[in-house]
Amino acid sequence: MIELMAEQPDDRWEVEALYDLCFAPGREALSSYRLRDGVPPVAGLSQVARDSDGILAAAIRFWPVLAGTAPALLLGPVAVHPTRQGEGLGGSLIRDSVAKAEETGWARVMLVGDAPYYRRFGFTKLTGVEMPPPTNPDRVLGLALQDAAWDGVHGQVRRWKG
Ligand SMILES: CC(C)(COP(=O)(O)OP(=O)(O)OC[C@H]1O[C@@H](n2cnc3c(N)ncnc32)[C@H](O)[C@@H]1OP(=O)(O)O)[C@@H](O)C(=O)NCCC(=O)NCCS
Repeated sequence: MIELMAEQPDDRWEVEALYDLCFAPGREALSSYRLRDGVPPVAGLSQVARDSDGILAAAIRFWPVLAGTAPALLLGPVAVHPTRQGEGLGGSLIRDSVAKAEETGWARVMLVGDAPYYRRFGFTKLTGVEMPPPTNPDRVLGLALQDAAWDGVHGQVRRWKG
């Protein structure tokens, strides 16, 4: 039995340890991390998944960014502990968090990731929206949470000014 819950400040280092386990060393050197520097993740949308013993099984975080001038959510990192992968947990976390984002009025969500995985949630390649280099443009994906929310959105993705 796995329970999803909002990430709390005390979860922070456990989540970082999970990300260190699941991603290649140096993950924080990625350009997408520069959009996160000094900006807290979006409370409520960033979630952890724990088993019945309280062991961390997965985590997802979201940051606010500006795509051109449009507010957007940056999804990620999302990671599932290697012993729990392939059980649908990543999908549950993504669907649940994206539904919460929609309920709370966010219009659009984006990420840098593998299209073959994320297309099942409705993400498609964003054209005209540029992540800080070096980012493979084929991995810049978006999902509209409101009608046509990505239409006409273009320009560089920048750090949220707060
Ligand atoms: C990617 C990740 C979050 C998926 O979570 P998960 O709980 O293992 O995945 P789910 O059980 O929801 O989905 C499993 C399906 O996704 C597919 N899948 C997983 N990662 C994939 C990828 N990178 N590209 C394409 N398909 C992928 C699996 O093959 C499986 O396909 P199937 O449903 O046809 O059998 C998880 O594997 C993980 O933490 N990986 C390491 C960190 C990472 O790469 N994070 C994502 C960064 S873009």
